[in-house]
Amino acid sequence: MLRKILLAAVCLFGAGAAYVAFLLPSHRAAPDVRVERTEARLARGKYLYEHVANCGDCHSGIDESRFGFPVIPGEAGKGRVMPAGMGLPGTVVAANLTPDPETGIGSLTDGQIIRAVREGIGHDGRPLFPLMPYAEYSSLSDDDVQALVAYLRTLPAIRHQLPSTKVSFPMNVIMRFLPKPVDSVPSPPSDPVSRGKYLTRISGCRFCHSPFEKGRPVEGRDFSGGHEFQLAANARVVSANLTPDQETGIGRWTEQEFLDQFAQFREYAAGTPPKVDYPYNTNMPWLGLSGVSDSDLKAIFAYLKTVNPVRNAVVTHPDAPEERNIPGYRKRTALPPR
Ligand code: HEC
Ligand code: HEC
Repeated sequence: MLRKILLAAVCLFGAGAAYVAFLLPSHRAAPDVRVERTEARLARGKYLYEHVANCGDCHSGIDESRFGFPVIPGEAGKGRVMPAGMGLPGTVVAANLTPDPETGIGSLTDGQIIRAVREGIGHDGRPLFPLMPYAEYSSLSDDDVQALVAYLRTLPAIRHQLPSTKVSFPMNVIMRFLPKPVDSVPSPPSDPVSRGKYLTRISGCRFCHSPFEKGRPVEGRDFSGGHEFQLAANARVVSANLTPDQETGIGRWTEQEFLDQFAQFREYAAGTPPKVDYPYNTNMPWLGLSGVSDSDLKAIFAYLKTVNPVRNAVVTHPDAPEERNIPGYRKRTALPPR
């Protein structure tokens, strides 16, 4: 009798594990949406792709030797295998987003792309590895996600076959529980604080600038920095404290200083950024974000001033031998002390 119960239990457990590994996530059909390509949509989509959300940082060929990891001209959206040095669990491949029908997303429906971006379900029903920041993109308004789809269709098609993503245990099981359906999302109210809050979600500021535990931002410590990223095997970069704390955050920054901090990188974004060794480089999307409009940056600043101030002194480049001599930051001494 006991044996039978045990056997049944083992079978049930086995079936459960198989179910988790192969059947989940339960996902719904991709929404039946057809995005019309209007001029306004294409312009908005380009702005979101290149500046606000910086999709190309992961989905393009990038120059790893230069400050801010610029996109290699002619390689926009062609996808890439994320570097092994990032310490990811397995092989993670950012998809080819160009309209090539065989190796890109040319044969996907608009609805499949929208579901991938906001819900984390790939075109084949597979849960996406959450390096694809779909939890943040779940906040994308219907208008904005449609603008992105319209713009993606206009990227020059690049035939670029990539290997498939292979995530190791236990993450391959955990990630099946993360996707959630997203229905209609309205645009945020137009006041600066609401718009700023929205922008800090869809551009990943909150994700990168908050400490995370078990895949979620730690309650009450949003934007307090300290989120550590592995750029390469021995090069970490740690996000800064963006809360209004006077000593360790941006509490003493003026709006103008905040704008200038971004504007100083426009020169690099327009040309070729300088060469820089890994420990001095950064995944902060300075190049893309330097093209965010003043009005949007002001909204972000207004919102950041309203978040809970948290005292947290951060060393941003812990593996850089000389903290002060960072090529990308040569103009930064003008800013108030952190
Ligand atoms: C931090 C890196 C990163 C950023 C930023 C990023 N992605 Fe991704 N994306 C990925 C990775 C990695 C995958 C593949 C995950 C997998 O295969 O499990 C992916 C997958 C996708 C897919 C799924 C394609 C398919 O096969 O179904 C789409 C569509 C996509 N991304 C669009 C976007 C768009 C649009 C943006 C910007 C709004 C964006 N991504 C920003 C990393 C990123
Ligand atoms: C991919 C992760 C990532 C994203 C997305 C990101 N940041 Fe950062 N950010 C960092 C890291 C890491 C640093 C520290 C290294 C550096 O300064 O480059 C940083 C530094 C900064 C600094 C400099 C602070 C100082 O004291 O010098 C500001 C300001 C900032 N980020 C604002 C933002 C805002 C606003 C957004 C969203 C619009 C954002 N960041 C999005 C990772 C990120």
